Amino acid sequence: MTTTLITGANKGIGLETARRLIAAGHTVYIGARDLERGRRAAEQIGGRLVQLDVTDDASVAAAAKTIEADGGVDVLINNAGIETRGPDNNVPGAGETTGEMIREVFDTNVFGVVRVMHAFLPLLARSTAPVVVNLGSGLGSLTAVSAPDSPAHAYPGLAYPTSKTAVNMLTVQYAKAFPAMRINVVEPGYTATDLNGHSGHQTVEQAAEIVVRMAQTPPDGPTGSYFDISGPLPW
Ligand SMILES: NC(=O)c1ccc[n+]([C@@H]2O[C@H](COP(=O)([O-])OP(=O)(O)OC[C@H]3O[C@@H](n4cnc5c(N)ncnc54)[C@H](OP(=O)(O)O)[C@@H]3O)[C@@H](O)[C@H]2O)c1
Repeated sequence: MTTTLITGANKGIGLETARRLIAAGHTVYIGARDLERGRRAAEQIGGRLVQLDVTDDASVAAAAKTIEADGGVDVLINNAGIETRGPDNNVPGAGETTGEMIREVFDTNVFGVVRVMHAFLPLLARSTAPVVVNLGSGLGSLTAVSAPDSPAHAYPGLAYPTSKTAVNMLTVQYAKAFPAMRINVVEPGYTATDLNGHSGHQTVEQAAEIVVRMAQTPPDGPTGSYFDISGPLPW
């Protein structure tokens, strides 16, 4: 029996991933910072609910304590994420971006991953097949964003892509530090969710495909790697 925790699973790609993993037989904890939104999602798909705000150390510690008391966790999906968008759904450009905007995005997308990893690594270490999937982005690829012929090249902002580049580095460093775990980062593709004002061209069903696949990485599978649905991506 595999137990999986997904952060920010009350909607979007996280919720769809939870639905798919429950169908595959996992016991899934829906991590949600808002209990009411989390409860609705967990009831909808038959998941367990855990209050978890990745920007709040006490909330992360309490979630780890609850899940430990219930028997632990095998798979952790660091999915919670935010992007800075203006009133017209526009992304602030490099010159308009402030340190405070970057701090807010990093607090969720980067420090949030570290908070959750730090609290859950001892639980994962007790699993016979521990797996971590980090939700990265093609916008975190220095190769893609600097290539004029790549769609990612047109993205104007600083906060979100730098946060996802940091998630790539976290993935590499955690994977080296914990060789018994399979720790990878995935790019789900540009997907219509609240994160981007539903401007993405993929569905959450399509996006969840690579997340679900990597959540089922076997003990002899890849670690410290960066994938989208078509295969490995350049850093
Ligand atoms: N959509 C895309 O095109 C795309 C592309 C590449 C990567 N991604 C990544 O995929 C992941 C999921 O994004 P999505 O598109 O599904 O976005 P979404 O629909 O906006 O969902 C984001 C989830 O994160 C939660 N969240 C935000 N801040 C949180 C916090 N401090 N603590 C706990 N949960 C928090 C949200 O909860 P609330 O409901 O409480 O706000 C929500 O459940 C993100 O890491 C994103 O960067 C998305």
